[in-house]
Amino acid sequence: MKKLTDEERQALLDLAGEARQRAYAPYSNYPVGAALRTRSGRVFTGCNVENASFPTGTCAERVAVFKAVSEGEREFEVIAVVTSNGVLPCGGCRQVLAEFGLETVVLVGDGEGRLLRELSVAELLPGAFTSEDLPR
Ligand code: THU
Repeated sequence: MKKLTDEERQALLDLAGEARQRAYAPYSNYPVGAALRTRSGRVFTGCNVENASFPTGTCAERVAVFKAVSEGEREFEVIAVVTSNGVLPCGGCRQVLAEFGLETVVLVGDGEGRLLRELSVAELLPGAFTSEDLPR
């Protein structure tokens, strides 16, 4: 798991907090922000984007991952996720993160930008189903 400095942690939590302010969450009123840093050092932010057709909405983490992948980045070091109450990413987002590496660090922050948890995707999704499990 990548070792981070406090400055690196705080910078990503701050970017996730700013992204959270751009959330489109009129139905849940639960804005979420994410900031994903790639191995090449680029940072992609994400926020949840909801829809009147509820299942069509997308989580903040997935927006960040899909932005990165669509820009040609597939190697991730760390993602910061910020919510009002500092919860862990949902199961679907854990699976999406697992696709691109079980060692990605997940920083969990609260609405005040405080770090509450730091753990790996492997810890978030034990026994993850990955491409290794598909018959060749
Ligand atoms: N949400 C996220 O963006 N990430 C998560 O890990 C959990 C849930 C969003 C989805 C929805 O817009 C709102 O939070 C309430 O579920």
